[in-house]
Amino acid sequence: MPGQCVIGLQWGDEAKGKLVDLLTEGKDLVVRYQGGANAGHTVVIGDDVYKLHHIPSGIINEGVLNLITPGVVINPPTILEEMDMLLPRGIDVTERLKLSQRAHVVMPWHVLEDKMWNQLVSGEDNIGTTLRGIGPCYADKVGRSFAIRLGDLIQPSFPDRVRKIVEVKRKVLSAVSGGASDLPDAESIIEQFSAYADRLRPMIADTNHILQNAVEQDKKILFEGAQGSLLDIDHGTFPFVTSSNASGTGISTGSGVPGNWIGNIIGVCKTYATRVGGGPFPTEQENETGQHIREMGNEFGTTTGRPRRCGWFDAVAVRYTARLSGVSSIALTMVDVLSQLKEIEVCVGYKLDGKDIDYFPGNIDELRRVEPVYKSFPGWQQDVTEARTLDDLPTAAVSYAHEIEKLVGRPIEFLSVGPDRAQTIHVPDGVTLEDYLSKRPA
Ligand code: GDP
Ligand code: IMO
Ligand code: MG
Repeated sequence: MPGQCVIGLQWGDEAKGKLVDLLTEGKDLVVRYQGGANAGHTVVIGDDVYKLHHIPSGIINEGVLNLITPGVVINPPTILEEMDMLLPRGIDVTERLKLSQRAHVVMPWHVLEDKMWNQLVSGEDNIGTTLRGIGPCYADKVGRSFAIRLGDLIQPSFPDRVRKIVEVKRKVLSAVSGGASDLPDAESIIEQFSAYADRLRPMIADTNHILQNAVEQDKKILFEGAQGSLLDIDHGTFPFVTSSNASGTGISTGSGVPGNWIGNIIGVCKTYATRVGGGPFPTEQENETGQHIREMGNEFGTTTGRPRRCGWFDAVAVRYTARLSGVSSIALTMVDVLSQLKEIEVCVGYKLDGKDIDYFPGNIDELRRVEPVYKSFPGWQQDVTEARTLDDLPTAAVSYAHEIEKLVGRPIEFLSVGPDRAQTIHVPDGVTLEDYLSKRPA
């Protein structure tokens, strides 16, 4: 099966962008199928650093067609900004990016609603979204009556549609704020979005048709997940999630490729855990350890710059998401970040109300009450950033990786020891970490 997918197994920022760039080699198409400009994917190739929120990370490789499919919510100004950022760096996106006419558009009222809903909910109930209008846009998609799809922008009915929606949205926003709303008038929104549409027009396409042909022609396709499985709207830590299916379950619905065709799913996770925004995080370390991980891993958001909350690897959560997403193998990233630690803790089980449980709770109050059960592993206390093969890694680092794959129940295929494309170890085909460790000289 020629389909391969990269998805996050934690709460996002697992280094999916790096993996996608690496795996794009030899592919014909790279597909972003859910989320929107809330993502921030980083690709590092020598001195070149690319931070992409919207355009697939496959764009950096020449000769690959990149698709944004119906499940994504499109933010036209962000796409245009990224095109303008890439052009002087030698990447002309126009010929190699197609945007689905079926994808919904984030409109100015969505961004205002996102801000307003966030302000209305305070304290531990605040989701802490990226304020990119993602939730309100998906809400209107499901609600249907006030939604705008990319293909609508270039239809003669577009101006009238905006006028009608603005009338309703202005009433709602004013009623909630108790004053005038900040929503620009309909005519200026029409003018602004018509200008975006003029620039995007050559890229607006029927990506379902393109993908169906690509599948029939056995083209090699890479699917680029955004966010992480624990942020999945249906299966994540609801309500502290994003508004799309960010686990492997979303690949088919978001792209339009049949589920039984998608074979190889690589789940990306860090050697520890991070989360941005609100919500329970059982293994969070609000102490020197968390601070140390944040500094060593430069754990600050790619999209919002917010400091990421940091904690120990949670094997209960990742085992749940690896099973949920049908992961075939794991890419374990940030091996270098733990290099200075003497002891590394891993959460191997949960206690809920004093009892051991063998599942990841689906209820947020229960998840808030779980107590992690930790197991301690020796650190490697050695720089690993130059390692390119398993032999270059300290035994303790390979053993730690092996413990993780045993706990999660899926084999590790990649180990990442730094941000650069080159700082990656591919576990050779046919080799397991268990075999490797058993043969490795002490
Ligand atoms: P994504 O959203 O999953 O694509 O991840 P982000 O790009 O938001 O965050 C990952 C960050 O870690 C980026 O700054 C990457 O350049 C960096 N990174 C990727 N892999 C590694 C690694 O193995 N070690 C370290 N130290 N940094 C990494
Ligand atoms: P990538 O693709 C990490 C989080 C937000 C917030 C919640 C809802 O870079 O891994 P939203 O704006 O989507 O309504 O916010 O989801 N979030 C992410 N956290 N990485 C991301 O993307 C994220 N995208 C959204 O911080 O808690
Ligand atoms: Mg990110």
